[in-house]
Amino acid sequence: MQQSKYLDFLAEFGVGGAHPGGIELTKEIFKNENINRMTRVLDAGCGTGQTAAYLASTYGAKVTGMDVNPTMVAKAVNRMRSNRLPVRLVQGSIEQMPFPDQSFDIIICESVLSFVDKPKALSEIYRILRTGGRFIAIELTVNDLLEPQLEEEIKQFYGFEAFCSKKDWIDLCKQAGFENIRIKKNKSIQSAPDFQHSEDISPDLYEVMAEHYNLNLEYQNELDYRIYTSTK
Ligand SMILES: C[S@@+](CC[C@H](N)C(=O)[O-])C[C@H]1O[C@@H](n2cnc3c(N)ncnc32)[C@H](O)[C@@H]1O
Repeated sequence: MQQSKYLDFLAEFGVGGAHPGGIELTKEIFKNENINRMTRVLDAGCGTGQTAAYLASTYGAKVTGMDVNPTMVAKAVNRMRSNRLPVRLVQGSIEQMPFPDQSFDIIICESVLSFVDKPKALSEIYRILRTGGRFIAIELTVNDLLEPQLEEEIKQFYGFEAFCSKKDWIDLCKQAGFENIRIKKNKSIQSAPDFQHSEDISPDLYEVMAEHYNLNLEYQNELDYRIYTSTK
């Protein structure tokens, strides 16, 4: 899948917390996870590194952030430098990750799988997670089928591979080998994103931002999300 205009917008505006619920939802999720100074965490598709920074500063965990987009990685590096956080940042694709088997205790993926080849990414996540490790994903989840034309329009705009229902996500996680799959929904939590703007932002990306907010408003019931947690 080619980089979409939407992902270009996120990178150029340096949007942090670019997942449903934002950083406040991430904080809630980690209250229920076993995480401490010894925990090796990967934020796969970390964007500008807001979650990675939070996990390193709050829990002192050994955090790695990885993203395919060099602008995102550069902005994450800036964030860690200015906050003096020892987070390792790597540029790479979730579909073929540059880490040995069983490298991490927790892998979190916030609004990334929808943009990639899901079976490939999930089998990579499974490979690099230690046995007994935890996999957490916050992902777009449709409740009903959309009109085909609308579905195509939204897929094109965001660069989504396909829309998934709750059952589709569960099947995908099971096929990759994950167990103990739990699903949660928490629509009450919302957070303001943070921004790290690039110097010269192409004017058409302002239109992309407007279209994104309009689509979200108009189809907020159709474009739902869930939190998926599971164990290897
Ligand atoms: C909606 S943003 C979410 C970013 C971050 N997780 C957050 O919540 O702020 C999606 C992210 O996935 C990254 N991404 C897209 N395809 C990827 C791939 N194949 N491998 C790794 N990251 C990818 C994008 O560059 C972008 O940073």
